[in-house]
Amino acid sequence: MDADTIRQYLEFYQDLHIETLYRRTSVADAASPAVKASVVAAPPAPVIAASESKIAAAESKIAAAEPKMELPPLAPPDDSLIKIMQDIGDCHRCRLSEARDKIVFGVGDEKAPLVFVGEGPGADEDAQGIPFVGRAGQLLTQMIEGTSKKEGIPLLRKDVYICNVVKCRPPGNRTPEADEMETCGQFLYRQLSAIRPKAICALGGTAARAVTGHKEGVTKMRGKWFKWNDIPVMVTYHPSYLLRPYNENAKREAWEDLKKVLHFVYD
Ligand code: URA
Repeated sequence: MDADTIRQYLEFYQDLHIETLYRRTSVADAASPAVKASVVAAPPAPVIAASESKIAAAESKIAAAEPKMELPPLAPPDDSLIKIMQDIGDCHRCRLSEARDKIVFGVGDEKAPLVFVGEGPGADEDAQGIPFVGRAGQLLTQMIEGTSKKEGIPLLRKDVYICNVVKCRPPGNRTPEADEMETCGQFLYRQLSAIRPKAICALGGTAARAVTGHKEGVTKMRGKWFKWNDIPVMVTYHPSYLLRPYNENAKREAWEDLKKVLHFVYD
């Protein structure tokens, strides 16, 4: 196995939050069929149309399976992205501030009808102060612009708004802790309230949980519509998950999810 393949495996396990690997046999063998199967396992059939009733049906189906977390109240009606940024200031409200370089607030059109929400900045985003500019970001840009073009929708990355649940990079790209998400989540909710998009696309499990309040895994939630304070939310895979090996199914599904949300917003 070459070095690049080994690196891909390690990144793949890092995404699964497996921090310790024991080398009993070869690294290839360590990716057991069970792990592979759980990664490529086909999720349940998606809900197709974006009508109110379908959104409600999808949400109530999930709600029946999982209790919902409490979401904080909406921000004041005169809120704006500038005010939110000023309120964040040189934030030291949580431990994520200790190791960060730049706060990654968000980027795009303040009046965007579509907002993408990721988990938190990675190394490239931390260095540049802009969300989704690393490898996963480049894939996201390609997905947005490539899918729109194919679907006949004139849309560029600059026309949407992109932000994260937490605005500072979690050390080692770990998943943000509940208290960090709670502290920073108030700013995400204010951003969403200030923009009031026609739809939100939650990228990956962390964003899905933060925006919908549901605790189910992303494979159960993807392709379905939820609501954030009356705004439809589509859940799909995080682009960094799609960059890992063995995720061909997930890629196809993510493209389907994206098509749904794009047609809902721009048709
Ligand atoms: N992953 C995220 O969730 N957000 C970014 O901004 C970059 C990578």
